[in-house]
Amino acid sequence: MEKETIGVLGSGTMGRGIAQVAAQNGHNVVLVDINEEALKTASNSLRKIMERLVEKGKWEQDFADKTFGRIKFSQSVNDFKDCSIVIEAIVENLDVKHKVFRDLESIVSNHCILASNTSSLSIASIGAVLQNPDRVIGIHFFNPAPLMPLVEIVPAVQTIDDTVNRAKKLIDGWNKVTVLAKDTPGFIVNRVARPFYGEALRIYEEGIADFATIDWAMTELGGFRMGPFTLMDYIGNDVNYAVTESVFKSFYYDPRYKPSFTQKRHSEAGYLGRKSGRGYFDYSENAVKIEPNKDSALGEQIKNRILVMLFNEAIDALFLNIASKEDIDLAMTKGVNYPKGLLQWSEEIGLEKVLNQLEGLFHEYGEDRYRPSPLLRRMVRDKKSF
Ligand SMILES: NC(=O)c1ccc[n+]([C@@H]2O[C@H](COP(=O)([O-])OP(=O)(O)OC[C@H]3O[C@@H](n4cnc5c(N)ncnc54)[C@H](O)[C@@H]3O)[C@@H](O)[C@H]2O)c1
Repeated sequence: MEKETIGVLGSGTMGRGIAQVAAQNGHNVVLVDINEEALKTASNSLRKIMERLVEKGKWEQDFADKTFGRIKFSQSVNDFKDCSIVIEAIVENLDVKHKVFRDLESIVSNHCILASNTSSLSIASIGAVLQNPDRVIGIHFFNPAPLMPLVEIVPAVQTIDDTVNRAKKLIDGWNKVTVLAKDTPGFIVNRVARPFYGEALRIYEEGIADFATIDWAMTELGGFRMGPFTLMDYIGNDVNYAVTESVFKSFYYDPRYKPSFTQKRHSEAGYLGRKSGRGYFDYSENAVKIEPNKDSALGEQIKNRILVMLFNEAIDALFLNIASKEDIDLAMTKGVNYPKGLLQWSEEIGLEKVLNQLEGLFHEYGEDRYRPSPLLRRMVRDKKSF
């Protein structure tokens, strides 16, 4: 049976990755971009990626040719007319998204799902311009889309169950791990991960340790694949700062998500990370590697402080029903490669211990940022487990 045709709007970093995933799973794909150059770049880049997969012996030549051949590159949204779903991955701007969603609805069938890959806009606000908003949904892939297993499925208040079930079934069929998230800022991953960056920056700002030492504590002692500063340099300080600021504003300025001046200044100075040759670390050819201070007591203090903040965030997401406990743990292991699910991890360490440490920070600093989640208090009081 012929598989349904998938539409992808926007052929940038995310759009072309999503197109690849759909095509390698046997779908015909229509990849549309208004910019001809962008389409050319996407086509060249996909060709190259597939050639490399063949060279490495991961794909057969025939599979690569067929996969590439299934992608139709186009500048016209009219080519979406036979698609059963269109996934939008264009610039992160609500006005522009509104315009394209209106256009899309006038072209596709009534049955076609209209999905957005947005990281920071609400799905409800995107769907608000549709005549039939029950077909709108967030389908949030992670970068690079072909490699990262996690996809957050985000129904808006307008979305009907049929849309959710169809979207989930489709993406599950692409060998992705789907989790269901509430339409709230940052969904699961970009909300729960905030302290990994924010608390690391705060520890640096207080003069407790330098970038290299904090990264060492989180990788060597915490088991994370990358330390927070290496990761921010990888993501780009401009991008990471923009996400932090957007989450902070969207949460009505909850101090828990407060951005950091250190990151803002690095971003302003053009110290964006790997892509600019310098971020928190120097990536130039003759750069001298900064050695961390491998004091184990200091390392433990850093690791524990960042970890309890992450645990608290994950527990609070569960408290507010952002997602199920299983999905919160899956999201962090499959979306950002955390060594363990945070809820499971917090229990292994002991919820009472986690609460005590948070209470200690809260009393010491007197800042709302360190307030323990009511669910954590309740669970400790009632001696419950997740
Ligand atoms: N980059 C990431 O790591 C990442 C991860 C998850 C989600 N997202 C989200 O995915 C979306 C796309 O991000 P990206 O990083 O791929 O962006 P990008 O800048 O790499 O690509 C955007 C593409 O959209 C095209 N475009 C802009 N307006 C258009 C329009 N009206 N019609 C058709 N094409 C149009 C541009 O020409 C460009 O090729 C955003 O909503 C972003 O929040 C990004």
